[in-house]
Amino acid sequence: MEVKEIFEGVYRINGRLATENLVKGLKVYDEELIKHDGKEYRTWNPYRSKLAAAVLKGLRNMQIKRGSNVLYLGAATGTTSSHVSDIIGMDGTLYCVEFSERNMRQLIDVCNTRVNMLPIFEDARNIEKYAEDVGTVDILYQDLSARDQPELLLLNGGLLKRGGYAYVCIKSQSISIAKPPKQVYREFFNKVSKNFQLVESFDIAPFDRMHMFAVFRKK
Ligand SMILES: C[S@@+](CC[C@H](N)C(=O)[O-])C[C@H]1O[C@@H](n2cnc3c(N)ncnc32)[C@H](O)[C@@H]1O
Repeated sequence: MEVKEIFEGVYRINGRLATENLVKGLKVYDEELIKHDGKEYRTWNPYRSKLAAAVLKGLRNMQIKRGSNVLYLGAATGTTSSHVSDIIGMDGTLYCVEFSERNMRQLIDVCNTRVNMLPIFEDARNIEKYAEDVGTVDILYQDLSARDQPELLLLNGGLLKRGGYAYVCIKSQSISIAKPPKQVYREFFNKVSKNFQLVESFDIAPFDRMHMFAVFRKK
């Protein structure tokens, strides 16, 4: 079996993407567990996780590392966030904001087994409700499918350290169905440019045809 670490905590195992399981023996969704050399890895499905898709599509700036403190907006049931939890390990902290009660119930189950993941049952518009608990983070991850996504990036960017990285999944149809996607993305980048420098952006087809994946650095 060939195991190659392509970014800190991110592996290719016989061509498949994986992270090292923080909680041995436990799955979060329908991923596979692979044991090798005393370690256990979880396969990371690019059709279920836009971050995995971005890695496979050639993401160049992967700043989510061991020990990172991450604010994750739109954690849903914990699919991608559980892999982020694997990557940052026990020295990192992952704050998971989610406002759907149904998703939050499942997310809490995941957080209960992973001590570096903290659930925050809140709307990402109400930053004042969690700002004090979160403090300043190294990384902001946003996957919200909301009309006011750029505004939410600017608002929550207040908790990101200067020079910190923001990973944003932008769904043009959630922002406007009337405008062509290219225009929506351009307007998004312009709107946040006072606080964020665009580092790279690309589509994540064929894994997901609806999103642009963008990486920003806080000015
Ligand atoms: C596309 S799903 C996220 C999938 C997840 N990032 C993953 O890869 O596992 C978007 C999630 O964002 C949540 N959401 C949307 N707007 C939100 C807001 N304003 N505040 C908090 N959560 C929000 C939705 O409830 C939904 O669970």
